Parts: sequence; structure tokens; C-alpha cells
Amino acid sequence: MRILSIETSCDDTGVAVLENNKVISNVVASQTKTFKKYGGVIPELASRMHAEKINELIDLALTRANTKAKELDYIAFTQGPGLINTLQVGLVAAKTLSQYLDIPIIPVNHLEGHIYSPYIDREVDKKTFNNKKLAILVSGGHTQLIEINKGKYKLIGTTSDDTIGEAFDKVGSMIGVSYPGGPAIDRLAKKGKDTLELKVSKLSDYRFSYSGLKSQVRRKVQEGNYKNEDVAHSFQKAAVQQIEWQVKKYLKSNDVDEILVTGGVSANSYLRETMAKISKEVKFPKLKYCQDNAAMIGNAAYIMTVKGYKPTKEIDMDSYPRTDWK
Ligand code: KG4
Ligand code: ZN
Repeated sequence: MRILSIETSCDDTGVAVLENNKVISNVVASQTKTFKKYGGVIPELASRMHAEKINELIDLALTRANTKAKELDYIAFTQGPGLINTLQVGLVAAKTLSQYLDIPIIPVNHLEGHIYSPYIDREVDKKTFNNKKLAILVSGGHTQLIEINKGKYKLIGTTSDDTIGEAFDKVGSMIGVSYPGGPAIDRLAKKGKDTLELKVSKLSDYRFSYSGLKSQVRRKVQEGNYKNEDVAHSFQKAAVQQIEWQVKKYLKSNDVDEILVTGGVSANSYLRETMAKISKEVKFPKLKYCQDNAAMIGNAAYIMTVKGYKPTKEIDMDSYPRTDWK
């Protein structure tokens, strides 16, 4: 099953070609450089850049995969959640290809793309999805624990305010590293010590909160007595501690067969180390598939078919900016 997948939910234009869930090519035009100077994404500008790049990337992904458009069996694309204008670019490209090539189209939930990213390039079959899993989605848009039982989703916990990725990015801008701050904080933290003595409370109902932590860090940075590497180290430790506590609490009363740690922040080396100590059943995506990418969308589309989804050529569908776990 040869799939061409498209991802345009935020600021990365991604196109991939997969044979089932094995990646043959995966190309991305990142807009990070442009948005560095603004400190965040500007949706109108982002959608314009997606529109400029998408055709070129489709050609490039096909060329690198040594695949002709006519050899494709399915088109997959990110239907949501994401920025509505940027999603529309992927939707239109996917619908056009599906009609032109007369092949089925698979609308993919971006969050499913993330949570199944540890399975990219691995053997999967129906049995892979019959067991009970805990997915930890940590990104710029989400901090969530999701239980997956026989393919059904249940949201266990989420953040009450900021996401962990936002907190990394905001602390990054406090200490003057370039946007997005996560990777730089990860690097700096390795050279630092836990000198800030940040307070983190254990919240009930598997909730997370990063707004208070962010304010504590801001006050300490304003005091001016701390080295950047110590700020990075102390913040990262406190940010990851919340995940560690809630996951340990969940595992005390729940047996799961696998734990999937996914989303942009799953690239964080300290989070990986901490989670790997909790259980040997923890799986992460390869580093190149942590951030938004089209390979994870093609992979999720394939998994949908393994789980029984029947793709059609029906293209009467919209993008959606938000979604919940049903
Ligand atoms: O999944 P993603 O690419 O986009 C969303 O769907 O949100 O996640 C982006 C987030 C950013 O906040 C970025 O700072 C964070 O992932 N990130 C990291 C690391 N690499 C990326 N955070 C901590 N440590 C990292 N190594
Ligand atoms: Zn994402």
C-alpha cells in the first residue's frame, strides 16, 4: 500500500511517501527560521508559506521515493487539529490529488499521528492495537495522558493552563535562546545544576499546570543571580517531574502493555531518561519523527486501515481546528 501523506497543521509543510508504515521519503519545509524573529507563529504568514511550498514538496517527496504519482494507492492528510488556514492548504492539495489520481483519501487526526509515531517503520498488525496503552502527548499544543484500550481513546489528564512545550519556549525566551526554546534548554540543562529550588505541586485528577512554574522562573531570572544553564536545568527538572508523578500515579492503579511518549517534547533527553526508568515498556518515536512531520500522518493512515478503517474516494470533508478524544 503506497501512501502519500501531507502535514500542514502549523508551521512545517511536510510530505512523505510510505509503503505501509515504512517511510520511503519524508520532506519538510520548516518555517521556524521565519517565525524566530516574531517569537511565535503568525497563521496568515504560515498558510501563505504552505501554499508556496506544497506543490514543490509533493514533487520532491515522489522523486526521492522513486515513485510516480500514478503508483500511489492512497492520499493521507492532516484534517485537524491545527490552524484552520494552514490545514486548508493540505486539505485542498489532498482532495485535488485524490480526484486527479482517482484514489481514496484518508483524513488523519494530527494527535493520532503523534501518538502512533513510535510505530513508524515497525511491524504492526491488528494485535498491536488490541492491548491497553498509555499515550503521553507532550508538544507545543498539548500536555495529555490518553488511555488507549482496544483502539478506543479516553482522555485521562490534561493541562489546566499552558502546555509543557509552551513553557519550554517561554523560559527559552526569558534566557534569550532562539525560538523554539525546547532544544536549547535541553542542551543547556546538561551543563547546569538544580539551584533555583522551584516548587511543583502534585495536582489531582492527573492535571498538569505550567503557568505557575513559568512565573516562578520569570521571578528568579529577574533577580539576576542565576546562570542560564542552572535556570534551564531547574526548570526542565520541575517540568518533567509533573509528567513523572502523574504517570507513576496512573500506573499504580492501571496495568498497561505499552507506554507511548510522543510529540515535540518527547525529543527531550531528560524526559526520555526519566520515562525509561519508570517502565521498560516505554516507546519513543525516532528523534526525526518527534516534531510535526508527514511520515507520522502516513503511518497513522496505515494504522487506521489495519484497525479496520475503509478509505473512500469521497472528498466532501472539511478541516477542523479542534478535536477531542472519543
Ligand atoms: O509537536 P510539535 O512539533 O508541535 C506541536 O504540535 O505543538 O512540538 C513543538 C514543541 C516546541 O514547544 C519545542 O520547544 C518542543 O516541542 N521541543 C522540545 C525539544 N525539542 C522540541 N522541548 C524540550 N526538549 C527538546 N529537546
Ligand atoms: Zn504536533
